[in-house]
Amino acid sequence: MTMRLIDGRALSQQLCTHVHQEVATLPSTPCLAVIYVGDDPATQVYVGRKRDMAMALGMESRVMHFPAIVTFQELYETISSLNQDAKVRGILLQMPLPPHLDRFALLEAIAPHKDVDGLTSQNLGLLAAGHPRFVPCTPQGCLRIIDHVGYDVIGKTVLMIGRSNIVGLPLSLLLGQRGATVTVAHSQTVHLDQLTAQADMIISAVGKPDLVKTIKPGAFIIDVGISRVEEDGLCRLAGDVALSVQATAGYLTPVPGGVGPMTVACLMYNTLQACKATL
Ligand SMILES: NC(=O)c1ccc[n+]([C@@H]2O[C@H](COP(=O)([O-])OP(=O)(O)OC[C@H]3O[C@@H](n4cnc5c(N)ncnc54)[C@H](OP(=O)(O)O)[C@@H]3O)[C@@H](O)[C@H]2O)c1
Repeated sequence: MTMRLIDGRALSQQLCTHVHQEVATLPSTPCLAVIYVGDDPATQVYVGRKRDMAMALGMESRVMHFPAIVTFQELYETISSLNQDAKVRGILLQMPLPPHLDRFALLEAIAPHKDVDGLTSQNLGLLAAGHPRFVPCTPQGCLRIIDHVGYDVIGKTVLMIGRSNIVGLPLSLLLGQRGATVTVAHSQTVHLDQLTAQADMIISAVGKPDLVKTIKPGAFIIDVGISRVEEDGLCRLAGDVALSVQATAGYLTPVPGGVGPMTVACLMYNTLQACKATL
């Protein structure tokens, strides 16, 4: 079997076209508010993409930027006022946050029906119970990639590397609910290579280049990780999966151009759903 590289950009474009068409039929323009803290250039790029895509799809976008020294209280009050603002249908608190801020408490402050990344305990609880309100954007992007290819996970062994609330935890639950046999690996996992060598599907969400080097021939590899690596004085983006894996994978998502664009498209989709739920 020759490896098939999955074009996340083309797939995200399809979803965005659908969202654009639906937004045009809404009685009012949905507004997505994105809050971010600090001056990390990568975060600014991600937020810019979300703002630009929202606007391109006919939504309003409100980007709220705070310096790294912002207080918990100030952010909490900002989220509370966005919760009260009827125009705002979706609220995204962009990660990472500086360490002095209580990330859990701030996410919990988001009204669950505006929590378009599905990270509040209520929304993660609904997902765990099999009735998600919003499927978190990156896990949803991975599922859409799997569905696009028509890959049936029932009875397959899936290795989920990473267990964060934003990617690994919800995605491992969702795949288990679909009938996959899911193993979750993390920083304390020993002999990761033995696990990667056996799985039918590997989804890696860590942020360590070349973490996945050994795979089962024909395996479906979804590379969520993003790292910046210096090479010959130039900076490039890398996933978690070694380039050598390309020779034997069945399907592979590239970095960049794989899961990343799907995450943005799914945020737009969730914002549309948030809007439709209150019509
Ligand atoms: N493409 C996209 O749209 C998208 C979206 C979100 C995130 N990302 C990228 O995905 C990566 C993960 O993001 P995140 O927010 O989930 O990060 P995170 O919260 O830092 O979680 C990283 C996970 O990786 C695990 N880990 C660390 N070292 C490991 C190792 N050597 N072997 C196995 N597991 C290891 C950690 O284990 P412990 O739990 O034991 O600490 C943790 O569960 C990052 O590179 C991020 O930039 C991409």
